[in-house]
Amino acid sequence: MPPIGIHDIAFATTHYVLDLDELARYRRVDPAKYHLGLGQDTMSFPAVDEDIVTMAATAAAPILQRHGSDKLRTLLLATETGVDQSKAAALYLHPLLDLPSTTRIVELKQACYSGTAALQFAAGLISRDPTEQVLIIATDIARYDLDSPGEPTQGAAAVAMLVTAEPAMLQLDSPSGVYSDDVMDFWRPNHRTTALVDGKLSISTYLDATSRAWTDYRARGGRGLDDFRAFCYHLPYTAMARKAHDNLLRTVGVEWEPERVTAAIEDSTRYNRLVGNSYTASLYLGFISLLDHAPDLTGQPVAFFSYGSGCVCECFSGTVQPGYRQHLRTADNKERIAARTPISYFRYRAMHSDRARYPSNLTFDQDTGGPYRLTEIIDNKRTYQKV
Ligand code: CAA
Repeated sequence: MPPIGIHDIAFATTHYVLDLDELARYRRVDPAKYHLGLGQDTMSFPAVDEDIVTMAATAAAPILQRHGSDKLRTLLLATETGVDQSKAAALYLHPLLDLPSTTRIVELKQACYSGTAALQFAAGLISRDPTEQVLIIATDIARYDLDSPGEPTQGAAAVAMLVTAEPAMLQLDSPSGVYSDDVMDFWRPNHRTTALVDGKLSISTYLDATSRAWTDYRARGGRGLDDFRAFCYHLPYTAMARKAHDNLLRTVGVEWEPERVTAAIEDSTRYNRLVGNSYTASLYLGFISLLDHAPDLTGQPVAFFSYGSGCVCECFSGTVQPGYRQHLRTADNKERIAARTPISYFRYRAMHSDRARYPSNLTFDQDTGGPYRLTEIIDNKRTYQKV
């Protein structure tokens, strides 16, 4: 069987950005709690005419421009911010991205984990027919109630990945460790637009699940800790990576100097520190951040920990491919984050509340500076447009 993995990867985020200094000022919180305690500086926030579909289209467009869609047979969209209980959000991408009608399309859900389920399913499809390509899009808007502890850990992004045989960026290894259990640490019932969370339980469950997934990964013949050049964790906020890595070291029973821990995790946290949580996209945004910031990773194994509350956790690994740097979009990626428009605290609050009250008929003025927008919801039918 040929090697299978990530051939190309790109991301999109929102038009607006909220500075967490501003949030701290109005919430009368020491800004150091956000910058040091949580490891977050700013968070992406969507314009009124942006949602998971517009971000998904923006993330996927450069991949389709580069590779075409001739070999595309499957599109898997992972999200926990679905816009419909029945129709897969990826179907709205047909006219926006000119997708072939011979594409199998489905939406996957299991909190922040489902992008990784998509990756494993894609690898299975390609091992059956290595001429086929699978596009995965993980796209989410992380939203908690205003004034809740979760508020500073909001954010939004989409990551698109083309999964193929003979991949140019990351070859996936075959062993994978998984752990699942029924836990009420974070959830969003159908009637709510914001998530409910038991913050402390969510942290302890995340840590327990990652160490159990690691144990399963090792039992199935996975690599040892010292084999890895870098570790990518699901990042609800970036300080979680250090908590998770320290916990992993305790699980394995070894001690690393703090500098070694920093070297293993920090490059994967740089974009997330500015974008905030992006649920399903977060782990893979961390991987893009690693590729864009780390010194040459050619031939280096990378460990991934994908956690979705509720909960499922998977530990897997891959090897960075020779020549991967020629395919990066580092300058564009940095520019995309830097180009977001600052939003005032009061406009952010007003827009946050409005999102919870969308009626079944609404036309949206153009607000985003991005390439795709939601134009109207008429008779409960959403219409999108390429700007
Ligand atoms: N200077 C420096 N650090 C400070 C500080 C200051 N002035 N004030 C507080 N801190 C530190 C605290 O010591 C704490 O550090 P430790 O975690 O190392 O103890 C950190 O800042 C956070 O402070 P609190 O624990 O007091 O924060 P909180 O109770 O207000 O909320 C939270 C933190 C529970 C993470 C909350 O933001 C939340 O509920 N977030 C959403 C849920 C979440 O992200 N859970 C993570 C695991 S679940 C998951 O991963 C799935 C997912 O995507 C949601």
